[in-house]
Amino acid sequence: MPCRIAIDGPAGSGKTSVAKLLAKKLGFYYLDTGAMYRIVGLYLKNKNIDEKSHEEIEKELKKLNIQFKEGHFLVNGKEVSDEIRTPEVGIYASRFASVPIVRKYLTELQRKISLNENIVVEGRDIGTVVIPDAEVKIFLTATQEARAKRRYKELTNRGVKVNFEDILNEIILRDKQDSEREIAPLMKAKDAIEIDSTEYSLEEVVDMIYEVVKEKC
Ligand code: C5P
Repeated sequence: MPCRIAIDGPAGSGKTSVAKLLAKKLGFYYLDTGAMYRIVGLYLKNKNIDEKSHEEIEKELKKLNIQFKEGHFLVNGKEVSDEIRTPEVGIYASRFASVPIVRKYLTELQRKISLNENIVVEGRDIGTVVIPDAEVKIFLTATQEARAKRRYKELTNRGVKVNFEDILNEIILRDKQDSEREIAPLMKAKDAIEIDSTEYSLEEVVDMIYEVVKEKC
């Protein structure tokens, strides 16, 4: 039986670091669904498409080919660059993420990738919509301040020039957009285990989830 681990939570909750480390520890695949929304956000932004033009979006999505190969994404045959990681692309990702056709397109792709795999899938709606029957469901949170601090550190370490206030405002805006949208809003699945990571280290959170996995898979 496959073991699919869904990790959902708001921007900067530590999902990405937790999911990556957990996947490594378990020898599982790791799927970053936020990266997929970022890929689509950047792609449609570069085509100057408005999020209200649903027909145009649908047409453009037909020309887009996102492949998941050995843990990496290829977009129309090309490796994805760090360009998708900027706060600006995060805002576009979040904006286009409320478009039904975009969600349908990416949800189907995410289900296909996770089917029958031992995989850690990270996002906003994995336990509620994408894989509601996941063997393990985690909802990871932390305060907005703590999340902004982590994001700031992560981007600065990667050499991306950012300002703390911008990061905090981006987190506040994205929380609002992600939790208030009509389809697949960010929310805890009824049967998900909630972990507030504000006071815990990355390793501690990974160990907590690892124990749950050992029990359930
Ligand atoms: O996780 P990350 O911050 O990279 O995600 C970027 C944006 O993509 C989020 O703010 C959210 O709007 C959207 N997203 C989503 N559903 C997911 C993953 C990400 O709507 N499963």
